[in-house]
Amino acid sequence: MTDGPDAFDPATYDEVVAEIPDYERLQAEVAAATTGLRAGRFLDLGAGTGATALAVLDRHPGAAVVLLDESEAMLAAARTALGAAEATSVVAGLEDPLPAGPFDLVVSALAVHHLAGRAKAELFARVAGVLAPGGRFVLGDIVVPDDPADVVTPVDGVVDVPSPAADQLTWIEEAGLTASVAWAHRDLAVLVGDKPSPLYARLREALSPALKARDRVAVAALRSALAAVDNAQAVDAPPAPRSGGVVAGAVTGLGAGEAPRRELSEGEIVAIVRAEVDDRREAAADYERAGKTDAAGRLTAEADVLAALLAPG
Ligand SMILES: C[S@@+](CC[C@H](N)C(=O)[O-])C[C@H]1O[C@@H](n2cnc3c(N)ncnc32)[C@H](O)[C@@H]1O
Repeated sequence: MTDGPDAFDPATYDEVVAEIPDYERLQAEVAAATTGLRAGRFLDLGAGTGATALAVLDRHPGAAVVLLDESEAMLAAARTALGAAEATSVVAGLEDPLPAGPFDLVVSALAVHHLAGRAKAELFARVAGVLAPGGRFVLGDIVVPDDPADVVTPVDGVVDVPSPAADQLTWIEEAGLTASVAWAHRDLAVLVGDKPSPLYARLREALSPALKARDRVAVAALRSALAAVDNAQAVDAPPAPRSGGVVAGAVTGLGAGEAPRRELSEGEIVAIVRAEVDDRREAAADYERAGKTDAAGRLTAEADVLAALLAPG
């Protein structure tokens, strides 16, 4: 990624790849971070010669991909590499408006580190804007590690301006996505931003005022519904850490081997919350029959809190 072979030229890109220890592993980890997601259509930012899109397509056969890159030559190589896959290419900068969403998935490998910090944050906000609810952003890139001994990928400090993983997790959260680290090794990291479903977002937004108001009924109902959704989203492997517990940590070793959550569709989340409402109404009816009116009233009130969020406005 330094002088010599050109990271933007397909003729010399193999030489660039050879300079990046763990290039293949990074592509594999980006693709691995897309599992659990139904990706019918995805966007690859800084698609280059198509290595990232190919790795993702391996996991999501038949998905339609939009390849974005400022270099038409790189995109031409990518289209050849992708063969019969349903691919559209867009010659544009990462600073430009993104192709129209919604996308189930936005991926980017080894491209965003070409943007300065503020431009990265602005890009993440635009990515959040084109993601479908329940969609995911997977960013695999060079980062500034805590320990300078972990700088193993050549960067020139001019065209290559990586940022610390912790900063990027903050910008992903500021964009309204739930950030986590899927994989990290030395100066490479795969960061994930999940776009909450509208209902999940409403549940989360309602919790903080309920806590402030010490509304025990609402807090109990909301916590229970959020936990039910979180449990359903947990995959067999230990869940990936949320950024809150990650930002202050070193990149090295963070998240290694951790798998992202299985992202539920809006319909699945609605079904879980509806079941929470129904369970409470049934239990309230049982209490009512048993003459336990206080317990019945409390469960009915909890059900009402959740039912109001199921059908807002
Ligand atoms: C190192 S290559 C990575 C390609 C591919 N994702 C991979 O991992 O092999 C970086 C790519 O980002 C593109 N790129 C760099 N800066 C860009 C920008 N500001 N806007 C759009 N594309 C850019 C380059 O043209 C190049 O194809």
